[in-house]
Amino acid sequence: MRKPIIAGNWKLNKTINEAAQLVTLLKRQIPDTQHVDVVICPVVTALAAVSEILIDSDIQLGAQDLYWEEKGAFTGQVSGSLLKDAGAKYVIVGHSERRQFFNETHETVNKKAKAALKNGLTPIVCVGEMLAERESQTTFQVIEAQLKGAFAGFSADEMSRIILAYEPVWAIGTGKVATPAQAQEVHLFIRKEISILFGEEVARGIRIQYGGSVKADNIAELMRQADIDGALVGGASLDANGFSDIVKNAQVAALK
Ligand code: PGA
Repeated sequence: MRKPIIAGNWKLNKTINEAAQLVTLLKRQIPDTQHVDVVICPVVTALAAVSEILIDSDIQLGAQDLYWEEKGAFTGQVSGSLLKDAGAKYVIVGHSERRQFFNETHETVNKKAKAALKNGLTPIVCVGEMLAERESQTTFQVIEAQLKGAFAGFSADEMSRIILAYEPVWAIGTGKVATPAQAQEVHLFIRKEISILFGEEVARGIRIQYGGSVKADNIAELMRQADIDGALVGGASLDANGFSDIVKNAQVAALK
């Protein structure tokens, strides 16, 4: 069975001090990750400090982006090995905000996911359609192109070490969550597509998170869908009570 995974994407929020305060609370409020994996992704400047605080916790640490080169004349970039050095185990790759605002392409997502694996980081690779694409009924084509682009040249073994996040862009930060049926339809499509590209076994094992306006009061219903294996949470992960309630409700849903 697939162990669900809830990840908090803090985006561009919180100083080192604020991050330390939040993670100290989360540690207390999420004592147990036996049934649901929990990951938090602070800004890169807070990674090392948060990592120290998480030493005696099962909550795991992730980064929000990486660069594919290891080192050299690449001003402003941070490589996978440096994220690992700062304590990260996961890294978000290809978030829609990066695709929209920072020229992330199929090719750069592919290079970043590869570089993450090479450095022993688990990439959380995001896919999802824009509102106009959903309205013009091209959601499946868009997702298919994103998957083929992101994982071109990947082996089945590499693919089995990936986590996917389906995040419809129209649901991110809008309060407009996809209905469980809408999300499940795309999750099932993604799993079928992975099966075609990498085989049945990889498809059965791969964890696919849903993302977009996830809150404590909608997580359980989403997780009840057969192909939804947790969530990537933005806004609601910035608050200790909000995020720990999501994790608690996910734990209850996972045990049913
Ligand atoms: P949201 O963001 O939960 O604030 O909608 C989700 C995300 O961008 O990962």
